[in-house]
Amino acid sequence: MKTEDKTASQKPLSYGRQWIDEDDITAVVEVLRSDLLTQGPIVAEFEQVLANYCGAKYAVAVNSGTSALHIAALAAGVKKGDVGITSPITFVASANCIAYCGGTPRFADINPNTVNIDVDALEEVCAQYEPKIIVPVDFAGQPADLPQIKRIAEKYGAMVIEDAAHSLGASYSDDGIEYKAASCLHSDMAILSFHPVKLITTGEGGAVTTNDENIYQTLLELRSHGIAKSQDKLIRNEGAWWYEQQTLGFNYRITDIQCALGLSQMKKLDSFVERRRELVKIYEEVFADLSEDVSFLLEANDKKSAYHLLVAMFSGGPERRKRVLDYLRTQNIWTQVHYIPVHFQPWYQENFGYRRGNFPNAENYYEGCLSLPLFPAMNDSDVERVAVAIREALQ
Ligand SMILES: Cc1ncc(COP(=O)(O)O)c(C=O)c1O
Repeated sequence: MKTEDKTASQKPLSYGRQWIDEDDITAVVEVLRSDLLTQGPIVAEFEQVLANYCGAKYAVAVNSGTSALHIAALAAGVKKGDVGITSPITFVASANCIAYCGGTPRFADINPNTVNIDVDALEEVCAQYEPKIIVPVDFAGQPADLPQIKRIAEKYGAMVIEDAAHSLGASYSDDGIEYKAASCLHSDMAILSFHPVKLITTGEGGAVTTNDENIYQTLLELRSHGIAKSQDKLIRNEGAWWYEQQTLGFNYRITDIQCALGLSQMKKLDSFVERRRELVKIYEEVFADLSEDVSFLLEANDKKSAYHLLVAMFSGGPERRKRVLDYLRTQNIWTQVHYIPVHFQPWYQENFGYRRGNFPNAENYYEGCLSLPLFPAMNDSDVERVAVAIREALQ
């Protein structure tokens, strides 16, 4: 393996990166020059565009995907002692939302072909724990098996919160009909994230989508301190200044500044996804002769992935994967492991007794996975550069 350090001469390539252009900057500056920086009209406009795009009735925008998960779990009624089930291969936030509400996070192992929650494993865990919620994660941008998950959830009386943090712009089909991720046609709610590495960005930000009006009203209240939103819900009304906090909520509000960026980004979402998909094709071509060493996590026939991540799986065990990651860093190429299984986290082991060995498919996947650079502003030649560096690392 060559060890020369080209860091200074090569631009950094990270596994994900935002695209910001002059239109985005103009949109943000316009809000900065206006009267309302937050709680103005742009938040509702962004919500409308999000809901329309996903094909859901309602969207509630908040200050992060994590906040979205928290209020979604609360709106689903998760309380102390309740169980919620998610995938062990996800960011910790998908499981933490259950714990925030006093519930117990449980996991169903992944399907190794899709790295999404395995429906048979899910059914078994549901039978054992009778969960209040199921949080399937659309891992790397590919929707989970939502129609099947919805059927399992109905059987066990659970609500489904689709974690669509990776999948804005993705779709799946069922019985020949195509559904958008976060449309909530096979879930009660879906959450989105607008962190800069995601499909679009608002800096930090997130949203919950739903088709249920009661849930929508609850989400609005939880976002803003638990203060009742509509006049007709007030217990009393002493005048124009009057407001009532009727439940315990939070300040999870997003600003108009952020939503102006979000609106501008939404205009480019489809082209972002198309460029990601083009780059994946180029990766496949350039890596074709390395198929014994590296394979990519690709989409299933009935799914269209938004490719938030391009996950490469390296054969030869975790030491080899580590060598590749370390070498790529010397070349200014910043890959990442998505994800350390949540049940490996010390807090999960201390509080819920999880151990290594609990979810073998997740653990096996973890040992070889590496997310390679994939973002719309990448050039075709950047893929070439990653391939050259990986070939060097594997020598
Ligand atoms: C699957 C998944 N869910 C939820 C989140 C939380 O989103 P945020 O970072 O916007 O809080 C993330 C963020 O990385 C994620 O990857």
